[in-house]
Amino acid sequence: MARTRTQVAIVGAGPAGLLLGQLLHRAGIDATILERRSAEYVLGRIRAGVLEQGTVDVLEQAGVAARLHAEGLVHEGVEIGFEGRRHRIALKSLVGKAVTVYGQTEMTRDLMEARAACGARTVYEAGDVALHDWAGSHPRVTFRHGGESHEIDCDFIAGCDGYHGVSRASVPLERRQEFSREYPFGWLGVLADVPPPWSELIYANSARGFALASLRSPTRVRCYVQCSLQDKVEQWSDARFWDEFRRRMGEEVADLVTLAPSIEKSIAPLRSYVVEPLRFGRLFLAGDAAHIVPPTGAKGLNLAVSDVYYLHEALRDHYREGTERPLDEYSPRCLRRIWKAERFSWWMTRQLHLFPGDAFALRMQRTELEYLFDSHAAQFSMAENYVGLPFDEAARA
Ligand code: FAD
Ligand code: DHB
Repeated sequence: MARTRTQVAIVGAGPAGLLLGQLLHRAGIDATILERRSAEYVLGRIRAGVLEQGTVDVLEQAGVAARLHAEGLVHEGVEIGFEGRRHRIALKSLVGKAVTVYGQTEMTRDLMEARAACGARTVYEAGDVALHDWAGSHPRVTFRHGGESHEIDCDFIAGCDGYHGVSRASVPLERRQEFSREYPFGWLGVLADVPPPWSELIYANSARGFALASLRSPTRVRCYVQCSLQDKVEQWSDARFWDEFRRRMGEEVADLVTLAPSIEKSIAPLRSYVVEPLRFGRLFLAGDAAHIVPPTGAKGLNLAVSDVYYLHEALRDHYREGTERPLDEYSPRCLRRIWKAERFSWWMTRQLHLFPGDAFALRMQRTELEYLFDSHAAQFSMAENYVGLPFDEAARA
């Protein structure tokens, strides 16, 4: 068995793991990242696309924002489509902040390049990752790589391995509490190389179900429609997708849509989930390993970033001060912000999707949206959540 040592063993090289590695590196803390998949596989996953201002600030602080600033698209507003009309929520003029459209894939690539440039250790295709003695004082992580067994001794383990990872699953059920809600539909997403005919995102509530018009760049669109959980991607030809998307977006947008061939198409279920606490002895959970939000508020990736921002501060202060206090604060500090993002994502999901067979809910949905379009206070509330609550205020005790 090959043995090595690091200060922090990070499980998972998604945005949470890679960004934590980068922030720790800049704080002079050594970390090794173990990733089950290959780097190419990780870069091939099409996921989130909207970054909060706070996320951009953290990426700047981590020294990985040069391309983001050059290529990211700053959006000062977002639109809600309802009953054939579009209503703009003027983010910037309401709350003084904007969001940046920059794909998770691009952010991941920037982080991978920064990690390679500083020579930090990342093991891709690490199999059978197992966590040991995280409840005691000598945590270890074992794994298989290149046909050999390996063991890493460490001070701490960061579980950044997503919803299906091994980290949370290593903690016995009686030591953790879970809160969840499943939604009775999924999102079918399509990526296509065509210039977006919309300049800002459009979240549309239609009688046929939800649809979202988004983008990745001046030459690439990303669009979604609410679909059945039973649907399979093969049942959705490009022609069927664009037809459904156009009907849900309303005439004005429909006329501008090009029926471009898809370069990626996938279905994702919608779920709200939080585990408490986020710290178990010397194991910390961050990102999707700790929580899931339905994608409607564009919060999943942004929450992963605020978690690891808090975690790097906790570890940095712990090494500086030599006390447990910063480590003790990690879980409550994170959870305060996580629950606010859970609330917002749940609210957006309820207002914009079709929940069949619930007439009362339908009237409430219409009333909520009419209130939003008419009320400055309601628009302010939506805007301050959509651009992202401040890291410190949201986390205030
Ligand atoms: P992940 O990105 O899941 O990274 C975890 C990493 O851990 C992965 O690379 C995985 O391979 C690795 N791993 C897992 N198990 C192990 C193991 N046993 N050993 C070693 N490594 C392991 N958010 C939005 O805001 N908008 C969207 O449109 C959107 N779409 C999404 C679509 C899908 C299909 C999914 C799954 C998520 C989507 N999200 C979206 C959410 C957003 O992408 C996530 O919140 C974000 O990726 C979280 O980052 P993470 O690093 O915590 O987890
Ligand atoms: C995208 C995804 C989201 O969940 C969202 O709310 C906004 C944009 C996207 O993939 O572009």
